[in-house]
Amino acid sequence: MIKVMFVCLGNICRSPMAEAILAHKVSQQNLSEFQTESCGTAGYQIGEAPDYRTIAVAEKHGVPINHKAQQLKPSHFDEFDYLMVMDQSNKQNALKVAHSTSEYELFLMRDFDTKDNGSEVADPWYGDSSDFEMCYQTLDRCISEFIHFLVEKHKRSV
Ligand code: 4NP
Repeated sequence: MIKVMFVCLGNICRSPMAEAILAHKVSQQNLSEFQTESCGTAGYQIGEAPDYRTIAVAEKHGVPINHKAQQLKPSHFDEFDYLMVMDQSNKQNALKVAHSTSEYELFLMRDFDTKDNGSEVADPWYGDSSDFEMCYQTLDRCISEFIHFLVEKHKRSV
């Protein structure tokens, strides 16, 4: 099983959208060895559903989304193989939570982007529906590439 945790700040916009896109793509491609979750480095919205604009953009693209916000905790670094952060601030906040002994790989989501590689997934929280659409398009590109990367890397298990 390849376990992927997406991490953002509030866990109501970017990371639940990323989780839903990955889950949808792996089910379409019959890649049964993937397991995915998402969380936030902050605890503001624990237990809440994704932002209504996150739900709207996922539904527009036919991507099922069903999540309750949770906060990143040290055991996630033991449990998950890959932690995918959206921006540099998420990375700094996430690394403060990690056990020094955990084995995991942490990437910036846009390390997998074919456009503006290595930049940040902008937080759409203060934006409008066009910012959520741009966020969706960015995550969609990155996750397609990330799946290629994982399938190549774990050839025998997927
Ligand atoms: P996210 O967006 O990190 O993509 O879920 C945010 C959601 C909520 C807040 C900030 C960012 N907030 O400050 O409540």
